[in-house]
Amino acid sequence: MPLPPHGRPADEVLAELDALQGGDVDWKGGRVFSLAYFAGDEIYGVARAANDRLLSANALNTAAFPSLKQMEADVVATVAGWLGAPEGVAGSMTTGGTESLVLTVLAARERGRQMGITEPNMVLPLSAHAAFEKGAHYFDVRSVRVPVGDDFRADPDAMAAAMDENTVLVAASAPQYPQGAIDPVEEIAALAAARDVNCHVDACMGGVVLPYLRRLGEPIPPFDFSVDGVTSMSIDLHKYGYTAKGASVLLHRDRQRRRHQTFVTDNWTGGLYGSTGVLGTKSGGPIAAAWAVLQHVGDDGYLELARVARDAQVRLRRRLDAIEGVSVLGDTPATLVAFGVDGADPFAVADLLAADGWYVDRQGPPPSLHCTVHAGHAGTVEAFADAVEAAVASARASAASGEAGAYGTLD
Ligand SMILES: Cc1ncc(COP(=O)(O)O)c(C=O)c1O
Repeated sequence: MPLPPHGRPADEVLAELDALQGGDVDWKGGRVFSLAYFAGDEIYGVARAANDRLLSANALNTAAFPSLKQMEADVVATVAGWLGAPEGVAGSMTTGGTESLVLTVLAARERGRQMGITEPNMVLPLSAHAAFEKGAHYFDVRSVRVPVGDDFRADPDAMAAAMDENTVLVAASAPQYPQGAIDPVEEIAALAAARDVNCHVDACMGGVVLPYLRRLGEPIPPFDFSVDGVTSMSIDLHKYGYTAKGASVLLHRDRQRRRHQTFVTDNWTGGLYGSTGVLGTKSGGPIAAAWAVLQHVGDDGYLELARVARDAQVRLRRRLDAIEGVSVLGDTPATLVAFGVDGADPFAVADLLAADGWYVDRQGPPPSLHCTVHAGHAGTVEAFADAVEAAVASARASAASGEAGAYGTLD
């Protein structure tokens, strides 16, 4: 579309923008089990209003925007409080789980360099998020992937065997994305502590929800800074914090470790440049939205949202378990559910669901379908399970096959 020679009226442009979204998934209607989170119009409205107020404020330099410095500090303190962080914990906000994980790899490489490690590697369960690979690619750290157990949890013995004198980082997830399993953090952190290397817990999915599920009586194993040896954690607020996209927190056990994530230079004519993240200019909008949504929802609100999400996930799992040919993968202790399909191609099932207006992630190995269940699914999981049942029957009858698709975007 060419740039119009003369500007068009705002109403007309915005109407066209709305029309463009006609083909997008209905993420507020409880029919999308990936990518977006929704806890009602009120919370969404707070995120929008706060985002709007600081959209063009720049968190690159908080001397100019002390409001953003304050908001970031408040958000980091709240998240640290959820996760048993010790006195002296040091954190910052990033734009998402990927940036948090990429910086985790950078920080581990830099600490390794300080220890004289010049050919660093990181040891990860096969289930750890793809963003770790992005960090390894960007920062030239070798990724050593270790198979997970039959329960989809990391295997600490296999990780121990894969570690060597060049290992700068080991990781666990709470929970991991593909099957929603919670890794044995205590055992993995002990491996890291024994070699004095970094141990990151990727709680991008669980950092908000797991502390509340524990308070609700769910048997959540130790996964946070209360575990000795855990040196850093990532927590996404644009997932179960139900705030605007562009908000994650990366916490380090102490300031010394966070220093390895920070970049500083004066090697140009523009003066001293320093930043804790990948970006330079950074919109204040998502920081403000995160701050405002945390304040608006509050402790009791997050407790209730966690209860509602978990209840929806438990109901969905129960229904999926009852569908012939559907097998749920692993114990699903948090709010995610993945399932395989016997006697039919799961991706054909996903195609049929998509034709019916339901969106699930396609993944593998093993070929399976992924559902991230949040509070916005409270009223739709039964209808979704009905749709899965019908789609499985139809895919079996037709023996159709579907496309595996991609988690991200390929151009
Ligand atoms: C466990 C885990 N880590 C990291 C990420 C990456 O987060 P983002 O998509 O915000 O970059 C995700 C995304 O789903 C995730 O589930």
